[in-house]
Amino acid sequence: MPYDLSRYRGLQNIMPDTNPIPELAGDNLTSLQSHILAEERRYPGATGDFSWILSAIALATKTIANKVRRARIDDVLGDFGDNRNVHEEQQQKLDVIANEIIKACLGARANIGALVSEEDEEPTVLRTHADGGRYAVLFDPLDGSSNLDFSVGVGTIFSIIRLEDGHATGGEQAVLRKGARQVAAGYVLYGSSTVFVLTTGNGVDMFVLDQSIGAYVLVKSKLKIPDGTKIYSINEAYTQRFPQDIREYLAWAHETNYTSRYIGSMVADVHRTLLKGGVFLYPPTNDRAEGKLRLLYEANPMAMVIEEAGGRAIARGRRILDIVPESLHQRTPVILGGAEEVDHVERFLNP
Ligand code: AHG
Ligand code: MN
Ligand code: MN
Repeated sequence: MPYDLSRYRGLQNIMPDTNPIPELAGDNLTSLQSHILAEERRYPGATGDFSWILSAIALATKTIANKVRRARIDDVLGDFGDNRNVHEEQQQKLDVIANEIIKACLGARANIGALVSEEDEEPTVLRTHADGGRYAVLFDPLDGSSNLDFSVGVGTIFSIIRLEDGHATGGEQAVLRKGARQVAAGYVLYGSSTVFVLTTGNGVDMFVLDQSIGAYVLVKSKLKIPDGTKIYSINEAYTQRFPQDIREYLAWAHETNYTSRYIGSMVADVHRTLLKGGVFLYPPTNDRAEGKLRLLYEANPMAMVIEEAGGRAIARGRRILDIVPESLHQRTPVILGGAEEVDHVERFLNP
């Protein structure tokens, strides 16, 4: 009778210095914490900065996951008064709560110079580069929050960039970096399980929160997005407002036996696309020339994850990661997914 590994799952997370039980040695009982430390060992002279920041993101997202699960019990659903954020969108109570949780966890990390949040008009400058602020974290604290009331998957999206020596302040100019300059990116999906997807530029790894030990446990390494999946994900209610080239792609997809899947939470739609393949599109419309999704803390981090998994992420025929940002909350069209699926869309796009 082979070992029932489930009894030991998580053991090594509680007692990392134990000699691995032989039968478990091959089993990846790896926590997010130990994974990041192992990753850091790949960089001689690494300062531990990364694990310091990512552990804060792990702590914040575990706290948010708990809030999301208890939303109806703790009565934190619904609109946050009639508050509208910088995008003139109605804030949900949990948008604000998630934002405060993330800033409280990250603000305590001495190597973070600035925080950029979808919910805040300006960056939160914590410390200058001279005072040790080496990184900026840009995030969407709660993505898909309009779906909270009916328990559809929502998530947190994050992007980490280095602050250059020259930018002492950590203000807006210091964080307007193209996505190709990200040093890490990922998301946490608060769905039927709490899934943490991370890339530090060395492939994409997936962790699931093991509630019994309160740790994110590695479940998949070096994820690769499948090709040849005939799924497109788009809000077809806007079809009449899409550019002609997108409508022509949709007509082709309808005749090519594609199926449609659209959840309306970017994190959930992108996570499905990462695991199953297909293509996710949020194109421009005649009333939103740049589409809806924000470049710095939605499109860029998702584009890094998708490209690291072997997929493509484009906007107007170029890599999203090559777009040089001009403002903190600028929007961009998004087409991302398996390389072949994005190629099929690209064939229709007018240059
Ligand atoms: P957020 O909740 O952070 O404002 O993001 C919502 C976004 C994104 O999650 C999703 O892909 C998109 O809104 C859905 O927009 P539509 O409802 O227009 O399809
Ligand atoms: Mn969002
Ligand atoms: Mn949001």
